[in-house]
Amino acid sequence: MEKPRPNPNTKLRAVLFDAYGTLFDVYSVGLLAEQLFPGKGDALGVLWRDKQIEYTRLVTISNGGAHYRPFWDLTRAGLRYACKRLGLDLSAAHEEQLMNQYRHLSAFPENREVLQALKARGIVTGILSNGDPSMLNVAVKSAGLDGVLDHVISVDSIRKYKTAPEAYALGPKATGFDAKQIAFVSCNSWDALAATWYGYQTLWVNRYQLPFEELGTQPVHTGSSLRDVLSLPFH
Ligand code: LAC
Repeated sequence: MEKPRPNPNTKLRAVLFDAYGTLFDVYSVGLLAEQLFPGKGDALGVLWRDKQIEYTRLVTISNGGAHYRPFWDLTRAGLRYACKRLGLDLSAAHEEQLMNQYRHLSAFPENREVLQALKARGIVTGILSNGDPSMLNVAVKSAGLDGVLDHVISVDSIRKYKTAPEAYALGPKATGFDAKQIAFVSCNSWDALAATWYGYQTLWVNRYQLPFEELGTQPVHTGSSLRDVLSLPFH
């Protein structure tokens, strides 16, 4: 049975952000992909991302997690699949170039100012991501976010990817707050949906004007930029 929906007026104490797609632009690999494979950059960016996420679900659901591999490895596997599927010849050098680009994805420009504003208000901040700790470390440092995040939480410690409830449980565990006191912010609709099911006060940032998932539950809040986090009901 679905948990009761959090009251959108419950005062929030912490904000946890999804990383890939929310703080870091997964489609910023498209430019390099387009240079390497003219006319196919966008298609590669989209299929790569979709496969990467599909693989997280496959290894979480199957065989008690026996096939778990860190997000970095699944990202590489997704790239190899996407190239084969699109008939692109991925040389070892191109693979390294694209993976290196993934390690240094562009951060969305408003991230830092939003996180700084949250810190100035005394709100606990963090990331809760499928990314493995070394990927997240590099991404956080290269985006200059290390001083404005209290927690960088990776599901790697439990070897289960979102949307497993055990993955979402890492947020309350790390912060000491109930899920209903935590805003969970994601641009990925499936992530915003499952975090709502888990009991977080979710903010779905719909950057690309997409429809929300058609599974009967809506996010608690919806916005169009990370700046909308600042209008949530904090203490
Ligand atoms: C993450 C992926 C799912 O950062 O976007 O968790």
